[in-house]
This record gives sequence, C-alpha cells and structure tokens, in this order.
Amino acid sequence: MVPTVEWKDGAVRLVDQSRLPGAVEFLDCRDYREVADAIRALKVRGAPAIGVTAALGIALGAQSVNETEYRTFAQAVLAICDHLAATRPTAVNLFWAIERMKRKLESLRSQPISSIKQALIEEAQAILEEDIGLCRAMGRYGAELIKDGQTVLTHCNAGALATAGYGTALGVIRAAWEQGKKIQVIADETRPVLQGARLTAWELMQDRIPVTLITDNMAGSLMRQGKIHLCVVGADRIAANGDVANKIGTYSVAVLAKAHNIPFYVAAPYSTIDLKTLSGADIPIEQRNPLEVTTIHGSHPVAPEGVAVYNPAFDVTPAEFITGIITERGVFKPSELARQFCS
Ligand code: MRU
Repeated sequence: MVPTVEWKDGAVRLVDQSRLPGAVEFLDCRDYREVADAIRALKVRGAPAIGVTAALGIALGAQSVNETEYRTFAQAVLAICDHLAATRPTAVNLFWAIERMKRKLESLRSQPISSIKQALIEEAQAILEEDIGLCRAMGRYGAELIKDGQTVLTHCNAGALATAGYGTALGVIRAAWEQGKKIQVIADETRPVLQGARLTAWELMQDRIPVTLITDNMAGSLMRQGKIHLCVVGADRIAANGDVANKIGTYSVAVLAKAHNIPFYVAAPYSTIDLKTLSGADIPIEQRNPLEVTTIHGSHPVAPEGVAVYNPAFDVTPAEFITGIITERGVFKPSELARQFCS
C-alpha cells in the first residue's frame, strides 16, 4: 500500500484520496492551511488518518513560526491547533492528536525554540508509527473472530487509507487473510462519497483480497440469503456507554445484522474512545455539502437543482446493536469499554 500520509522533505505528503481509484496522486502540503483544506475536502479522511495528519500539520506549521520566545511561539502554535481543530467535528482522533501535540509543546517550554520545532516533528511521527502498531494489534485480536471460508461485510473505508497504515476494520480482515483464511469481503459502496466503492474496493484489490462491491441497499437481501457471516466496521468516536459514531449507513447495517443474527463488530483504537462523551446523543455529527448528494463528484447531477438535501456524514449505532469492540487491548462488549479504558 502507498503511505496514506507522511513527513517528507519538510512537507506533509498525502495520497489524494479524492482522486482514487482513477489516479494515485500525491499532495505535498507546505503550509498547515493546505493540510486543513485537505482534511476538509476529504483528500485525507478516516478518523485515525485525520488525527495523524493534523499532528503532522501542527509540526509543519510550527516550523514557519518565527517567534524566538516560548510564550509567543506557543501562542502561534496554539492558533495553528485551533485552525486544524475546526476542520471536521466528529472524529475524536483529530482532537486527541491535537491535545497530544499541545501537551508535547507545553512539556518543552524550557527548551530552545529550534529543539521544540524538531520535537514536534518527532511527536507527530511517533503518533503515526503508533497508529500502525495499534492497527496491527487490533488485527491480531479481530482475526480470531473470522473463520476460514467466511464472508465479511464492511462499510465505508476503515483501511490503510483511513489510518497511518494497515487499517482498523480492514486491518482485521487483512490479518485474517494473512493467516491464510480464505475469506470474501462484501464492500458497501457507501453513498454519498463512495468510500467503499472508491477506496475499500481499490485497497483490497491492491492486496488481492477477494472483494465484491454492492450498493448500500443490497446488504439486507444478502444477509437474508445467508451470504454474510460477520460485519466489521470502523468508528469515528465511541462514547463512554459504547455507542458508536461511524459513516452514515453504519446504523442501518447494524440493525440488519441484528435482525439476521449476524455478529456486528466495531474495530477502533484507544484514540477513538471518548469517555468524556457519555452517549452517542452527545456526539457532534458533521453535516456536509448537499452537492455530495445531488451530484457525482460535484459535477454530474443526479437530482433536480434546488432540491432540499439532508447530508449527515455520520450516524450513531447504539451499543445494544454491537456484538463487540475490537481494540488493541482485546475484544470487549460495549458496556465493558469504559472500565477497560478509564486509565
Ligand atoms: O468521512 P470519512 O471518510 O472520514 O469517514 C470515515 C469513516 O466513517 C470510517 O469508517 C472511520 O473514520 C473509521 S476509519 C478507521
């Protein structure tokens, strides 16, 4: 897989996911505002990838702050943090990564500015490396849940492209495949931005993992025919009570899975767990541009001009629909999560 995002020659380099699968193009951001624009425009997306990219964006922005005194330098870096925090509201990994970068900055207050700048790059890179490790650990636990010969449904893209590498839900699938299990994947296309069709299908095909693409409204019929054995999805934020915000359409999949007695798993690292948010009702849900619904790729209209549009990017799946949450520490019932991650 191509790296989703990296620090390259003094720039934040990311693969432009808005161009996939038609073109594999890299975007070198040399200004933190470009990083923020890329997050907003879904050139980089997926909760953990957004967090990693924001951390790299902060490190990038800090390099061009010319202040020589800690107080004014820190003020400027905190303004950069605010700019990046205003990009997307739902994925808590974004705020988690920004807080971690702020803590690093504060811990270095007695250091020379040049050392702080270098340490911020190193911290962002550590977040990136850690994310890959978390995905691999989730993969090891999650793969145990998938049996040889099973068919797994996933929604959106919770893969290498949505993380620093390997993936959460697709990491689980990847790990099962690497263990030699002959599995099949059903990928929901994931209207309206088509992360399933454009990204999950592409990513799995790169790794030669068998994948079949369906439109979102086909999942129920396949479940009724007994053709899906397990569902695994990612998460943008998990509340203390185990409710999960993820890509719009996840809730429908979970309800269908429950109706057909199919296990429904969520794979997510600790950076996605938000114990300060008590339940799914408190999770802010991003509303996006109506053009995502009324057009394909912003240009081909599929609805009459001027029609009213509702376009939430995420929905909340209540804990009761979730069989288990696959984390880097093991697989837990949603109700056990707060106790497991309180420290
Ligand atoms: O709008 P997106 O593409 O950023 O939404 C992504 C998702 O909903 C993913 O399922 C989630 O972030 C988990 S990614 C490991």
